[in-house]
Amino acid sequence: MSPAAANLRPADSDAIEDAAAILRRGGLVAFPTETVYGLGADATNDSAVAGIFAAKERPRFNPLIVHVADMATAKRFVEFTPAARWLAERFWPGALTLVLPRRANAQLSLLVSAGLDTVAIRAPDEPIAQKLLAAADVPIAAPSANASGEISPTTAEHVRKSLGSKVELILDGGRTRLGLESTVVGFDGGKPVLLRPGAVTRVQIESVAGPLLHASSDTISSPGQLASHYAPNARLRLNALAAAPGEMLLAFGPATGAARNLSVGGDLNEAAANLFAMLRELDALEPRAIAVMPIPDHGLGEAINDRLRRAAAPRSLRA
Ligand code: TXA
Ligand code: MG
Repeated sequence: MSPAAANLRPADSDAIEDAAAILRRGGLVAFPTETVYGLGADATNDSAVAGIFAAKERPRFNPLIVHVADMATAKRFVEFTPAARWLAERFWPGALTLVLPRRANAQLSLLVSAGLDTVAIRAPDEPIAQKLLAAADVPIAAPSANASGEISPTTAEHVRKSLGSKVELILDGGRTRLGLESTVVGFDGGKPVLLRPGAVTRVQIESVAGPLLHASSDTISSPGQLASHYAPNARLRLNALAAAPGEMLLAFGPATGAARNLSVGGDLNEAAANLFAMLRELDALEPRAIAVMPIPDHGLGEAINDRLRRAAAPRSLRA
């Protein structure tokens, strides 16, 4: 076995115990959540958290999501507003991240907030992530487990290719169920603001918390709003009806000549789960461009189109 492959292990209880021990002594582990794989560190340990930034080569100003088992644990670190409480009660554990005021005495590295007075926090639903949180008994800071500017990983193998030499252990839990990052919601005067569309849809959130404000485009309140963040190497041409010569077609719905199809049946959940993996597969074939068919903008389509627009944005805007 090559050294690079030695640190990828099936996420059985032994591997989870080892991962927990690595976290407790300040090391980095990658683990599956229901959305994408995370690159985890003990969120209370400054040098461990700094290790995440170093491994990802991520700009320092990008704050990290803190993962906890449940709302009771989250309350040790952040202040819940009423709307935040309703949202957590409805969607946790799950793919919703809440950006909330940091408690004055929160035992969390200041680096996770990257200078802001808020913390992004969520309770993941994936059993492997929950077992790791229980075994480590610390909050886990974890961005998506890819180098900065790359597509979020939905398999352990994606993580190994991107960060394999920089992480002590990768827990392999197979392909992630949702395939798209969590929805990030902040609050402005108590009103919910959509900072990043994601796996929980706008309609689902609005049914609990009322109308969702859009983050204003002139104030980047979430660095995830930066125009280009989820980028393959190939140029992306959006809303394409067919591939031009040299292009590869990423289809949605019935199509002829597709190199990949996000969902033949036009199912947005299936498309979300396939999105990053298919972009990677096509990118590896080095086409002149990837032509992407139109995706309806409702339900999960909002998050899919957000990721596609970022991936298509000029490289100069890349985070
Ligand atoms: O599904 C997910 O959210 C995955 C899994 C691993 O949990 N994590 C993830 O993390 O996508 P990351 O770091 O790649 O994206 C976190 C997003 C970024 O857009 C970041 O700017 C935003 O959350 N964010 C984090 N802390 C914030 C804060 N205090 N205020 C505003 N935005 C914040
Ligand atoms: Mg990311």
